[in-house]
Amino acid sequence: MANTEPFKFPASFVWGTATAAHQVEGQNVGSDFWALEHAEGTFFREPSGDACDQLHRYREDIARIADLGFGAYRLSIEWARVEPEEEHFSRAALDHYRRVLACCHEHGLQPCVTYHHFTSPAWAVSDGGWEGARILDRFARYCERVTADLGDLMAWACTLNEPNLPASLVLSGVLPEPSGKAPPPFVVAAAQRCGQDPSTWKPFLVGDAFRMRDVMVEAHLRARDVIHAGRSDLPVGVTLAIQDHVAVPGGEDRRRDALERSILPFLEAARDDDFVGVQTYSRTRFGSGGPLGAEAGVPVTIMGYEFWPEALEGAIRYAAEISGVPILVTENGLATEDDSERIEYVQRALQGVARCLQSGIDVRSYFYWSMLDNFEWFHGYDPRFGLIAVDRETQERTPKPSATWLGEIARSGVLPTRAPGSSRRTP
Ligand code: BGC
Repeated sequence: MANTEPFKFPASFVWGTATAAHQVEGQNVGSDFWALEHAEGTFFREPSGDACDQLHRYREDIARIADLGFGAYRLSIEWARVEPEEEHFSRAALDHYRRVLACCHEHGLQPCVTYHHFTSPAWAVSDGGWEGARILDRFARYCERVTADLGDLMAWACTLNEPNLPASLVLSGVLPEPSGKAPPPFVVAAAQRCGQDPSTWKPFLVGDAFRMRDVMVEAHLRARDVIHAGRSDLPVGVTLAIQDHVAVPGGEDRRRDALERSILPFLEAARDDDFVGVQTYSRTRFGSGGPLGAEAGVPVTIMGYEFWPEALEGAIRYAAEISGVPILVTENGLATEDDSERIEYVQRALQGVARCLQSGIDVRSYFYWSMLDNFEWFHGYDPRFGLIAVDRETQERTPKPSATWLGEIARSGVLPTRAPGSSRRTP
C-alpha cells in the first residue's frame, strides 16, 4: 500500500550509512578471507586488494556523509588488525580505530560499531574455528579488549554481523546442505597458506552452517556480557540477515522450518539484548517443495534476488514480534548501475519502515548499505551498492544523486510520498 502523505519520522530516528572493514579498508592481509581470496581455485571473483583504501581515507568519508546530512556511521573493527597474533594486541591498530571513532564525533556522527563482520584473523579460525568451542574464549577476549580501549566512543555495539547467514543461505537454497565431506580445494590451499590444519580451519561461511549457527549464538551471548561488563550503558545487539520469508499456499511448513533453523535461535537469544539489527535486501518465497526462485514478472537485481523493497517491512515485523526488543535497521540497500532504481528502492523500503512506526513498532534507525561502492565478497567489485561511487584506479569518491536525496531525508526527517522520477509502479 502506498503512503498518501509525506511521513515525518520521529526526531530521535537515526539516519546512517554502513560499511565493513574488510570491504572498504584494503590490505587486510592477516585475515582468513585474504587467504581465501588468494588461494588457487578460489571462489572469489577477485581479491579485495586496496578496497576503498578507507584505512587512509576515513576522514574524507566521514566528513562527506556528515555533510550530506547523515547522523550516524556503522563501521566494523577488524579483529585481524587489532589482534594479528593470538594475545598480541596492536596498540597502533587500536589507536587507529580511536581516531576513526573520534573523527565521527567531531563530525556529529554516532558510531555504530560491529565487532565481527565476516572476517577473522587467520590464526583465530584454527582448532575448529567458527564450528568449535575455542573461538568462544578467543572472541570474548578480543571483545573485552576492544570495549576497554574504544567502548567509550561507541553509540551502539553489534557483536556479530549476520551469524545466521550460513544457515539462511542453506535453507533458502543458495548453498548446499552440509555434507560432512572434505573442504573444497581452495579452502585447503588457503589454510595451508596460513600454516593451519585444513581439516580444522573454519572461517565464517566455510564449513557446517548449522554447527556455526550454534557456536555463534553462544559467541554472541558471551560477547554481549563481556561488552556490558566493560561499559554497562552501551546498547549491545546482534545484526541478522532477515530476508522476508513468504509462503505461497502449501509452503507454510517449509517457511516455518527455514525460520526455525536459521533466524529464530538468534531472535530468541536477542530477548535480553538492547536491540536487534535487521538487515534485509529481498524476500524468499517457499512452496511445498522448498524455496522458490523469483516470481514471474518480478525484476531480479544483479545479486540474483528479486527487487522487492517491501521485504524490509515484513522482516522488521517478524524480528520485533519474536525478540520484543527495539529494532535498528542496520542494513538495507540495492546494487544497481541505475541510481534512480536505488532511490525507488529506498523510498519504498522507507514507506515500509513508516508503516511499522505507525503501527507502534519501536524502529530506531535506518542505515543504508552501503556508503561506498565496495568489495562485495565472492562477487568482487561488480555489484555497486554505494551512495558514493569509487574510482577503482584513483580512489576518487563521487556522491550519486541518491546520496543527496537520502541525506536530505535524513536532515529533514520527512519522507516524500513519491521518489523523484520514479518509473516503477508501487504495488
Ligand atoms: C552483509 C554485507 C554485504 C551486503 C550486501 C550483507 O549480507 O552484511 O557485508 O555487502 O549484505 O550483499
